[in-house]
Amino acid sequence: MTTRPAGGMRLAVVGKGGVGKSVVAATLARTLARRGHRVLALDSDTLPGLSISLGAQVPDDVPLNAAAERNEKGRWRLIKGVGPVRAVQRYATDAPDGVRLLQIGKHDRRGLEPNRASHNAFYQLIHRLDDAPSLEDWVILGDLPAGPRQMAFDWAPYAQQFLLVVEPTWQSMLTARRITRITTAMREDAQLSLVVNKVAADGDADRVQEFLGVPLIATVPADESVRRAERAGVALLDLAPDAPAVRAIERLADELDVRNMDRI
Ligand SMILES: Nc1ncnc2c1ncn2[C@@H]1O[C@H](COP(=O)(O)OP(=O)(O)OP(=O)(O)O)[C@@H](O)[C@H]1O
Ligand SMILES: [Mg+2]
Repeated sequence: MTTRPAGGMRLAVVGKGGVGKSVVAATLARTLARRGHRVLALDSDTLPGLSISLGAQVPDDVPLNAAAERNEKGRWRLIKGVGPVRAVQRYATDAPDGVRLLQIGKHDRRGLEPNRASHNAFYQLIHRLDDAPSLEDWVILGDLPAGPRQMAFDWAPYAQQFLLVVEPTWQSMLTARRITRITTAMREDAQLSLVVNKVAADGDADRVQEFLGVPLIATVPADESVRRAERAGVALLDLAPDAPAVRAIERLADELDVRNMDRI
C-alpha cells in the first residue's frame, strides 16, 4: 500500500496564451500523482491543450453533457444526485499516472452550442468543490485559458494558489501584470506565485520577477524536448522523462509539497 501525502492543494495555472500553461499544468499534475497525491485536473479551456499535454485519451462525446439539464424556467442545473464527488466518479476520465481529468468540453465545427450543458455543469461543479469533504485531501489543479478573462469571471473559485506562468517577453509580462492585478483584486486570500518558463538566458527570471513583484516559485528552461513532444502529440513526461523542463517541474512539485507540509 502506498502512503498518500497528507493534505490537499488547490491550484490554478494562469498566464498569457502560449506561455506553457498546459505543459506545466499537465506535467505537474502527473508528477504529483506519481508521488501518491490524488489529482483532479480541471480543463476549463474550450481549445485542446491539457489533455494532449497529459497524454490522455478523451472521448469524442463530452461526458459532462450528461450532468446538466434545463429547469422549467430554462435555466441550467445539475441533474439530481450529481454533486462534485459523483461528478468526479462519473464524468471525469482517466489520464496517465492516475490523474482524473474533468473537461469543460471543446469547441468543434458547431461552436459552443453542443456543449452548453457541459459548460454549465462544469461552472456549477467548480463552485461546489469545497463542499465535498472527500475531496479535501485531493490536489485540484486547473488549467485556465489564456488571458485574464476567466479570472475575472471567477472560473477558479477553488484555487488557493495561482501559478502565474510567464515567458521572458514583454507581451507575456504585460499580460501577466494584468492577471496579477485582477487576481489580487478578486481573491485577496489567494497566493500568487511566479513560474518563469522558456528561460534561455541568465537574468531572464530575475527580470520577470522584478517587473511583476510576484514571488518566484520555479524557473523552467526553454527545452527542445517540449517542442518535440508537442510535434509528436505526446506528453512530455512520456517522450523525455529526464528532460531539463521535466526536472524543473519536479522541483516545482517539491516546493509545493514543502509548502503544503508547512501549512498542515
Ligand atoms: N519550456 C519550454 N521550452 C520550449 N517550448 C515550450 C516550453 N513550454 C512550452 N513550450 C511550447 O510553447 C507552446 C505553448 O505551450 P502550451 O500549449 O503549454 O501553452 P499554453 O499557455 O497552455 O497555451 P494556450 O494559451 O494556447 O492554452 C507549445 O508549442 C510548447 O511546445
Ligand atoms: Mg493551454
